[in-house]
Amino acid sequence: MPDPVIIATWPFGMTAVRKGLALLEAGKAALDAAILGAQAVEDDPEVGSVGYGGIANAVGVVQLDACVMDGKTLGCGGVAGVENVRHVAALARRVMEETPHVLLVGEGARLFALEQGFRLDTLHTPESIAEWEKSRPRAGREGRDLAPEGTFPSDSHDTVTVLALDQTGSLAGVCTTSGLAHKRHGRVGDSPLIGAGLYVDDHAGAGGGTGVGEEIVRVCGSMVLVEAMRAGKSPQEACELAIARVNAAAVRRGVHPARVAFIALDPKGRTGAACTKGAKFEYAVGRKGKSELHTARETG
Ligand code: GLY
Repeated sequence: MPDPVIIATWPFGMTAVRKGLALLEAGKAALDAAILGAQAVEDDPEVGSVGYGGIANAVGVVQLDACVMDGKTLGCGGVAGVENVRHVAALARRVMEETPHVLLVGEGARLFALEQGFRLDTLHTPESIAEWEKSRPRAGREGRDLAPEGTFPSDSHDTVTVLALDQTGSLAGVCTTSGLAHKRHGRVGDSPLIGAGLYVDDHAGAGGGTGVGEEIVRVCGSMVLVEAMRAGKSPQEACELAIARVNAAAVRRGVHPARVAFIALDPKGRTGAACTKGAKFEYAVGRKGKSELHTARETG
């Protein structure tokens, strides 16, 4: 069996990797490690794009998106546009395990959280309110927003996507985010969508995305890269292929370069990562008791 491995997006993914690696090395399942790792980021008020302290949307409300997938069974679950629930990755797991469904949204997801015993909470911190006030869309002379509809928080990072391989050789993944800052109320990105922000299959590999969700959804980015691994590509080649697909779509729409990155992990424990030009994407990898930050290759 391979050594356990865990990979996560962005420098704040290091928190998830450290926590998850300890669990994997203690023999825990990939899904438990990925979710508990992601949850440590959801709990961190200093991460302004995930969970507690996530940046609010255009009307000042924090709406979270998340999904999980188990590579052994292809079991998956997601929640989108959820308010007042901090641990949305764990909530997505409940959707997977406790309902016959794959995706719950908005008020339905919040009611399900209550039914499942999750606590309702404010997701704002004094810092996230100040950040929103500083950068929020302001009305122009004709009442139109002057700011673009959806940007990233000022630290330029967004989703934490975590992929894990456990000691039994099984893969799992998690995405969790507050999405684009100032996004339209009700806007949903790639992160809760299986095949877009995340896809995991023990018979092929695990892939996940971060960046402008619309560009990832448009090409079913994570599905593309997992299918590339199924066809024999390495995780690195698969990520570069998915980025090439995003770039081609962005050129056709006149928005090149899009701002997107992907990570991948295969059943042998090999990892890969790639991003669009200028995305300056860093990711964390943990294996053999060590966690390291890497910089992804930019693909034009
Ligand atoms: N990738 C996060 C989002 O677009 O919402």
